[in-house]
Amino acid sequence: MRTRVKRCIPMLSLVLALGGIAAARSAVGARPAAPTAREKALKEVTVAYDRDVKTILGRKCFDCHSRFRQYPWYHRLPLVKNLIDADIRGAMKNIDMSDGFPFQGRGTPEGMLQAVADEVRDDGMPPWNYRLLHRGSGLSPEEKKKVQAWIDESLKKFESSSGTKSGGNK
Ligand code: HEC
Repeated sequence: MRTRVKRCIPMLSLVLALGGIAAARSAVGARPAAPTAREKALKEVTVAYDRDVKTILGRKCFDCHSRFRQYPWYHRLPLVKNLIDADIRGAMKNIDMSDGFPFQGRGTPEGMLQAVADEVRDDGMPPWNYRLLHRGSGLSPEEKKKVQAWIDESLKKFESSSGTKSGGNK
């Protein structure tokens, strides 16, 4: 019985010491206490993306804008392969959707949303040559509506989270 109590004492002081370290860290401000308005908005936009948009873009855009590609059979043809690979490199440099929203690539989350909105509105993506070879690969009217609604909502959220119009992000 006694040895047990003795063994418990070092354990206890270890726990107390660790607690002290954690308290000191948060006092120094190693972590912000609450998420900022911007972080909250980003989280909401991500949740809505996963719920409403990801499957649509997954079907229509991931072949070029993600690591999750399904190559067509003619990707095996020598010259065609080079053309497709170059297309994919171009696409990925602009927007990589592999890891969900916020997308990786050029620019801010808002900038990318705006770019996607432009492409969707003008039927710019997927590129016409791809649509020619893949029947039904363009966005349907319902899909366009869903993507556009998500983008409109998201841009509003970002704007109100930054407080002032000029606020916040690069
Ligand atoms: C066949 C491959 C392919 C598919 C499929 C594709 N894209 Fe692209 N995308 C590209 C290429 C290539 C570029 C780079 C074009 C350039 O550099 O001018 C690009 C660029 C973009 C850009 C940046 C445009 C700019 O200049 O600001 C956006 C936004 C975009 N794609 C959205 C989409 C969306 C949304 C989808 C699905 C609906 C999609 N793309 C499907 C190949 C593709």
